[in-house]
Amino acid sequence: MKATGDPDLLIGRELGDYTVLARLGEGGMGVIYEGEQRLIHKKVAIKVLNAELSQSMDEVRRLLDEARAVNAIGHRGIVDIFSAGTLPEGAPYLVMELLAGQSLEARLKAQGPLPVLEALELMIEILDALGAAHAVGIVHRDLKPSNVMVVTPAHGAAYTKLLDFGLAKRHATRPDDNLTRAGSVMGTPTYMAPEQCRAEPCVPQTDLYAAGVMLFELISGRAPFQAENLFDLMALHVKGARPSLRASVGAVPPELDALVRSMMAKVPAERPSSAAQVRDALIAIRDRLRAAPVRPQPRPGRPAMPLLLAGAVALAVVVGGVLWLRSPTPAPAATTPVASPPELPEAPVVSPPAVVNTPEVVAPVVAHPPPAGTRPVAANGRAELLARIERHLQTLNERATRGERVDPLARTSLSALKGQVADPHVTTAELREDLRSLEKTYRLSP
Ligand SMILES: Nc1ncnc2c1ncn2[C@@H]1O[C@H](COP(=O)(O)OP(=O)(O)OP(=O)(O)O)[C@@H](O)[C@H]1O
Ligand SMILES: [Mg+2]
Repeated sequence: MKATGDPDLLIGRELGDYTVLARLGEGGMGVIYEGEQRLIHKKVAIKVLNAELSQSMDEVRRLLDEARAVNAIGHRGIVDIFSAGTLPEGAPYLVMELLAGQSLEARLKAQGPLPVLEALELMIEILDALGAAHAVGIVHRDLKPSNVMVVTPAHGAAYTKLLDFGLAKRHATRPDDNLTRAGSVMGTPTYMAPEQCRAEPCVPQTDLYAAGVMLFELISGRAPFQAENLFDLMALHVKGARPSLRASVGAVPPELDALVRSMMAKVPAERPSSAAQVRDALIAIRDRLRAAPVRPQPRPGRPAMPLLLAGAVALAVVVGGVLWLRSPTPAPAATTPVASPPELPEAPVVSPPAVVNTPEVVAPVVAHPPPAGTRPVAANGRAELLARIERHLQTLNERATRGERVDPLARTSLSALKGQVADPHVTTAELREDLRSLEKTYRLSP
């Protein structure tokens, strides 16, 4: 990716008060350089955007307005932007603080999945910064691990900084770019919310979706949706079943699983209502985990890909490919908004290509054998559990009506568990175990 005719020619050049010193890295939208303020020798980072991304001065101005607004928030978790300008060749650049540390993407690559508590700590900070931006009407739109730096200061504890606020704005309004240049402009759309895939307006909950994907990835070491091409990946965001974090990693509290699932709801209105709500829920989970660490053993009998399921998936991939190609569903990023199709049953994480997202294809997976040592899925048992969940939801409503404080996470967790009752991959025993845990946590009598 070239920011100008030849990015290396920028080294040694003077951009306003700054001299470009060295190249630090590059992404889909431009190249990052280390620079120096000539008068006081302050080291900075300079992001030179691809010239073709800024075809009009209006766009550059909008970008700078947003940089100004984000800066005005003054949140420690958001990178400071000092200056901005445009190269004579037309490429805009931003001058920001030079951060010492590692991006979350680099950290994931180097260390693999993070311990749950560590992931929660990072996400709590990220959600706090996001909430501050949302409060002044700014949506990030491109939240992903490479846009989060984990800063490790010489003194004091590490903390996170969000980068690239607002840089993805154009993508939401120029759907053609999404499709034709997605690979180069915005990297992989692993973190894109369904509404972004459909080129609909971004809302704060769009960032919460991306945060949910990130949280899933930080803990499990893999993104919830993976596919071999852009179209399949977008289709999975739009209508693929959300995989369960617990099916992927054993030692995850059920309420965390439920929270991640709710963050990844297909419809923004069904996600948590604010970043602050998610942050507070994460804080509550973290505090409970610190007090009583979650049982460490992986879930028995729920291998990521049991033999029968593997066969079903292999069949599904073949049948699914054919069905998908025949499917009349319009291209995900079509300019006409597409009504959200009903979500399909939740499925465990499967290897790409995960095109197991048509009802016809999911059906054979019902044959998934129950884990050894548990009873087969019993419809009656599920009906009883469903009734119990409904009763608890009603109790919570009554408590709220009486003006009692109700933990919003209780409702979210129960609703997500309710959704799992229809999931053939979750056994009745597991549902019962999760429900008992929620009843205990939220003091609901069985
Ligand atoms: N202010 C900064 N200080 C130090 N390093 C930075 C800074 N900003 C970015 N980087 C580094 O440069 C890398 C590339 O960032 P860049 O934003 O160009 O790419 P990206 O996030 O992968 O893609 P995109 O262009 O879509 O944002 C980051 O992952 C990070 O390691
Ligand atoms: Mg970036």
